[in-house]
Amino acid sequence: VTERDGRLAPESLGSPAFRAAHAVRLAYVAGSMYKGVASVAMVRRMAQAGLLAYLGAGGLTPERLQRDLAELRSSLASEASWGVNLLASIEDPEAEDATVDLLLHNGVRRIEAAAYVHMTPALVRYRLSGARLGADGRPHVPNMVLGKASRPEVAAAFLSPPPPAIVTALRDAGRITASESALAARVAMADDLCAEADSGGHTDQRPLCVLLPDMVRLRDRLGAEPPSRPPIRVGVAGGLGTPEAIAAAFVMRADFVLTGSINQCTVESGTSERVKELLAQAGIQDTAIVPAADMLEIGAKAQVLRRGLFFPARANRLYELYRAHNSLEELDDRTVAQLEQKYFRRSLDDVWAETRAYLQTARPAELPRVEADPKQRMAHVFKWYFVHATRLAMRGSSEQRVDYQVPCGPAMGALNAYLRGSGLGGWCFSQRRGSVRPSSHD
Ligand SMILES: Cc1cc2nc3c(=O)[nH]c(=O)nc-3n(C[C@H](O)[C@H](O)[C@H](O)COP(=O)(O)O)c2cc1C
Repeated sequence: VTERDGRLAPESLGSPAFRAAHAVRLAYVAGSMYKGVASVAMVRRMAQAGLLAYLGAGGLTPERLQRDLAELRSSLASEASWGVNLLASIEDPEAEDATVDLLLHNGVRRIEAAAYVHMTPALVRYRLSGARLGADGRPHVPNMVLGKASRPEVAAAFLSPPPPAIVTALRDAGRITASESALAARVAMADDLCAEADSGGHTDQRPLCVLLPDMVRLRDRLGAEPPSRPPIRVGVAGGLGTPEAIAAAFVMRADFVLTGSINQCTVESGTSERVKELLAQAGIQDTAIVPAADMLEIGAKAQVLRRGLFFPARANRLYELYRAHNSLEELDDRTVAQLEQKYFRRSLDDVWAETRAYLQTARPAELPRVEADPKQRMAHVFKWYFVHATRLAMRGSSEQRVDYQVPCGPAMGALNAYLRGSGLGGWCFSQRRGSVRPSSHD
């Protein structure tokens, strides 16, 4: 442990193995944020400061992701550390597989794997591609996986080798080689496991002080088998916005810490200036839990900014309507008028026409099923509002400002309070001071 002026130096916190494996200064990660909110500029800025960040690839078109990867590769030194988000896609496994193709093609060596409920063929293929036996007799795996989990069974899957049935199927289909598959039993799915406590965006709402020790113990138990495998590092995310919170995480044996909400309110973040202004005013009480649109049917939740916004109340009302009714036709006239005039600002027919056109081009196999089931059709119409609300926020639209969907946890409010009076508050302080270049104090 190194000290500076009698205090612990940040460089000494967390796992030295984490810092060495990723060649970073600090055991600190900036997590992915969808649609390029965790932008090329953010990932590059972090890498230039010797820190690890993951590009928010979720929701980007393959063309945009390819462009972003090309930009990162051309503007960063080849040894720079950075990664990309890979999201599980239960609805569209082909899309997940296509993203893995893109990542492998571009030589992306680090991914942050999230939203997994079990290991998928696409994720296993990424993990094992290029695995070989080293001269030291151990497996060498070039593709590093940081797995995010908010539940013990998902954590256990990341701490274990790939499921043998998936490995065999990939080998038989020629998607991995025989020698890659032969090493699978000696390789865990992840190098790093991030315990995702109550956070901005998707959340299972588990408190950090419950989840982290539980996953550290799980690692200690599962990680002992087989003894030759390198230990998996366990870090934590969710609610980290102040030095006190970060210190608590390290006291609870976190090997690394990961933040999200607070990074959305930076110069480099890919969201709109209007959203950054709203975030910079938030207090710790200004967030709300809403249904997660991509998993509306199973009742998954997300945490968003509430202050000054109608989105959280409207999103929850749509979910209640979805649960209480079996079709759009069942809604009474007053409700339809309210949705069309206030929430959607267009007719339900127009929303369905737009949704239908999207499904026809993006997910044609799904369309007949949705068209045949009035409840599914209603779910898709309601989901349109969530997508629209995200677009409004990211564009900083001056219309329908109350409908912005802004994923955010209370860490943002905690940071705002911590920075108050310090001269560092507000998202653009570094711009105002005329410096967005790396400095030794960032
Ligand atoms: C705006 C926003 C978008 C996010 N999008 C993603 C995403 O696409 N993929 C992902 O793995 N995590 C996503 N997250 C979660 C973050 O990577 C991180 O795990 C989380 O924000 C940490 O908790 P905190 O918000 O309390 O700091 C998102 C978070 C925010 C705030």
